[in-house]
Amino acid sequence: MEKIRLSNDAVMPMLGLGVYQLTDPQECERAVINAIDAGYRLIDTASAYGNEKAVGQAIKNSGINRNELFITTKVWVSDAGYGSTKNAIERSLQRLDVDYIDLYLVHQAVGDYYGSWRAMSESNKNGTIRTLGVSNFFPDRIADLIAHHEIKPAVNQIEVHPFYQRAHEHQFLQRNDVQVQSWASFAEGRNDLFLNDLLAGIGRRYNKSVAQVTLRWLIQRGIAVIPRSARKERIKENAAIWDFSLTAEEMSAIATLDRKVSAFFDHRDPGIIAKWVDRKF
Ligand SMILES: NC(=O)c1ccc[n+]([C@@H]2O[C@H](COP(=O)([O-])OP(=O)(O)OC[C@H]3O[C@@H](n4cnc5c(N)ncnc54)[C@H](OP(=O)(O)O)[C@@H]3O)[C@@H](O)[C@H]2O)c1
Repeated sequence: MEKIRLSNDAVMPMLGLGVYQLTDPQECERAVINAIDAGYRLIDTASAYGNEKAVGQAIKNSGINRNELFITTKVWVSDAGYGSTKNAIERSLQRLDVDYIDLYLVHQAVGDYYGSWRAMSESNKNGTIRTLGVSNFFPDRIADLIAHHEIKPAVNQIEVHPFYQRAHEHQFLQRNDVQVQSWASFAEGRNDLFLNDLLAGIGRRYNKSVAQVTLRWLIQRGIAVIPRSARKERIKENAAIWDFSLTAEEMSAIATLDRKVSAFFDHRDPGIIAKWVDRKF
């Protein structure tokens, strides 16, 4: 399992399990335990996913020491601001039933995330959050956050997959020592990703699936991944990506799949932002 050293010297696994939409507690707990059994050490949840408790339960039942795991969670828009984020951090610690969170992300660049960052920085200083990061931040917001704070975001978790490759943003983040972590590495199967001829053809050369080729392509770009699956065999499949490498030609061929637009929605759409503000967790 490859790991990467972040700008604050913390070490983060390049592969983890995402648990978005695993809202049934038993299903979520089972997925996390299956992932840990398959060698995963990073779990990506969020207060907005409603499953921090199930993740905490799985950690307890996994038999793995807490200090071998890397737990990520996120503060939602409705908890933006200093006081609200302080409370949100406490609630996440309680639901996860842990003493510290490895990586805590501002989920969206909406609301008073400057206040959130101050609360997160305090928790970083008192040891309850090891690493601070952001999610869905475009380069202008990252530049602004970096310019005005002592603690820099070590990670930006953003949508990246073969149909939305974000090469320029990735370069900008690399220049600023911000590690990219891909969400929806499979575009949640949109645009028939799992049936894609090019990805399937490359996979046949190595006896690997479309999912494995996609994750390998991201890892070789230096992008961390957190694929989600509720199924044990797929959780194992998604972790079997360390025993082959794509050639430069294959990497370039996959680059041609880029459609340069989100497979979901524009995070800067005012209508979307209005909806987020009303969602409370
Ligand atoms: N920061 C953010 O705003 C944000 C947004 C979205 C997601 N995320 C994070 O990123 C994680 C991953 O993104 P995602 O969950 O949206 O989508 P994803 O990982 O792109 O896709 C998940 C889908 O792919 C299927 N799948 C997984 N492995 C497969 C395989 N080997 N073969 C065929 N199908 C497979 C899963 O079905 P089965 O379960 O049936 O296998 C599931 O329907 C999330 O869980 C969450 O932790 C963050």
